[in-house]
Order: sequence, then C-alpha cells, then structure tokens
Amino acid sequence: MLEQHRLFEALLSNKPKLHYWGGEWNCGGLDNIKLRRLFELACQSVESATGTIIETGAGLSTLAFLAAKPRRLISIVPDRDLKKRIDAEAVKLSLSQDGHEFYIERSEYALPELARTSEPCIDVALIDGGHGMTTAFVDLCYINCLLKKGGYLALDDIHLHSVRQIYLLLQEQPSFELVNELGKLAIFRKNTSDRFLPDHMGQPFVARNSLSIDDLFKQSNATIAAIPNPVPAGLELGATIIIWNTGNGSKGDVHVSVDGGDEKLFFRGSKGSKPAAWIAAGSTYEFRLYEGLNRAKLLASVQVTRNK
Ligand SMILES: C[S@@+](CC[C@H](N)C(=O)[O-])C[C@H]1O[C@@H](n2cnc3c(N)ncnc32)[C@H](O)[C@@H]1O
Repeated sequence: MLEQHRLFEALLSNKPKLHYWGGEWNCGGLDNIKLRRLFELACQSVESATGTIIETGAGLSTLAFLAAKPRRLISIVPDRDLKKRIDAEAVKLSLSQDGHEFYIERSEYALPELARTSEPCIDVALIDGGHGMTTAFVDLCYINCLLKKGGYLALDDIHLHSVRQIYLLLQEQPSFELVNELGKLAIFRKNTSDRFLPDHMGQPFVARNSLSIDDLFKQSNATIAAIPNPVPAGLELGATIIIWNTGNGSKGDVHVSVDGGDEKLFFRGSKGSKPAAWIAAGSTYEFRLYEGLNRAKLLASVQVTRNK
C-alpha cells in the first residue's frame, strides 16, 4: 500500500486541470478530502474478490482510483479528448492502466448492457457523470444493479435538485446506509444483494411525498391571467383579454372588482377567454375566478392596471 499512497500524494501535489468549464481549465469539483476518501475506498476494494470500481464521469477521480492500483476500473464518459488528457496524466504520474476499461459513450448506453451481462461485481461506484434528470437516475438504477452487498456508492453534487432526490431517496431506503457526507459528496453502503430498489410501496421517501388520489383532485390547478397586463397607455380606453380555467372541469364564475368596490359578474364558465375593453389608467381591476356559481370558493385572481 505504500506505493499506492506515494502515487496518490504525487497526484494531490500536482493536480492536473482536466476539465474546461466556464471559459477556463480546472481540476473539477472533487477537493483533496473527497479524493482521499475515494482513494481509500479504492484501496479497500483491492482486498475484495471482485475488486471492481465503476465511475460515470471521469477526471481526477479516475487518477485517484488508478493510484490505488485497482484490479478493475470502469470509467464511462462520452468525451474522447478527456480520455486522452487522463491517459497523458496517467503516464506522467506513472499510473498503470492495467485493468482500466474506458467506455467513451453516455452512461445511459453503456450501463444497461453492463448490468444485463454481468453479475453484481462492483465494490465502489462513483456517480458523477450527467447530473440532470434523468441521467443520474439511470446511473443509480444500473449501478445499483451491479453493486455488491457491502459495496459503496458515492454520489457527487448532492446540492443539485436532481442528485438530491437520489440522496434523499437512499437516505430513507433500508437497504442503504449513509456512511459519509463530505460536503457535496455523499457515500452510502449497500446492505442487500437486491439488484433493484423495491417498487414505490417499498420506498419510504416516495411513499412519504406522494399524494392520495383524492388529494390530487383537491389540489387546485386553477389559473386566471390577463394579456396584456399592464395594458399599454393610449387615448381611448384600453383592452386586455382575460383567460381562465378552473383546472378541474368544475363550473366557474369570473367576477371583477374595480378599485376594491363591489364585484360584478364578468363571465361564467369553467374555462374561456374574453376581452375587457374598458381598462382606464389610474384604476385597479381585480378579476377573481370562483369555483361553482355562487362564488363558493375563490380559486385564483389577477389584478389588471393600465400604464399612464
Ligand atoms: C463533474 S465531471 C466529472 C468529474 C470527475 N469525477 C472528476 O473527478 O474530475 C462530469 C463528467 O461527466 C461527463 N458526462 C456528462 N454526461 C454524461 C453521461 N450521460 N454519461 C457519462 N458521463 C457524462 C462529462 O463529460 C464530464 O466529464
């Protein structure tokens, strides 16, 4: 292990800028603390029978994994030039690439085939490729399929809404245990040999955040809007078009109140559009959409004014 540590410290003392983002070259988002933890996990993996590491996305993480002299490292990234830069740095740092498999394609293409044709063999996984919906979820699905019981799953960029949903899901999932949280990098250990997460009933995070069907229909999707608003200035009275929808097919009334005065019926219907061609500067016209025909429940409103 001494040699591995020497290689890793050499990498940290001269970190190459492998990524070009925001108009400049940079080292990527994994600082020394995060790289060290990934390196430690990689060193541990060498002791296991399968000794396999997988990562979506590549960069300094790849070099940190290589420093551990893994038996097998799978890197998946659709960027050929990045691979060339990693290869060049590996040579400079005397990092052997024996056992390194590089897939130059999107993880959405590479992972399903790997998952279908391989038994769970992964000891350490890093999800750090495409971070959007749905790439990160595809990575989770197939990497989970390949991850062994007792294997580690590192999730980078948990501050992003998409990745955070995975982080929150796994935090409540009995088959995963959060073992480290290093800023934006979370590391989980998998405690089952199940290849897939259970369906939604077996996912506490999903169950807790779901609506009943009744609640879904109680939610209001009602809208009312005026176009244009404010109404442009002019000599004559101005016009706007009021557009509304109760959102659930229920009957609706649109009433209007001028400068806080009594409401007058403007139009009746669950949805529609109608011009109001009497908008004067200096007044505020509030159009209110009610459910039912007796103003039973205010659903939405819009205030219309006119520029002077
Ligand atoms: C945040 S960087 C990875 C950083 C890397 N772990 C490091 O230590 O430098 C994200 C990488 O994911 C790659 N990427 C983007 N979409 C991807 C996808 N669908 N599959 C795999 N990699 C992807 C990008 O090319 C980029 O190199």
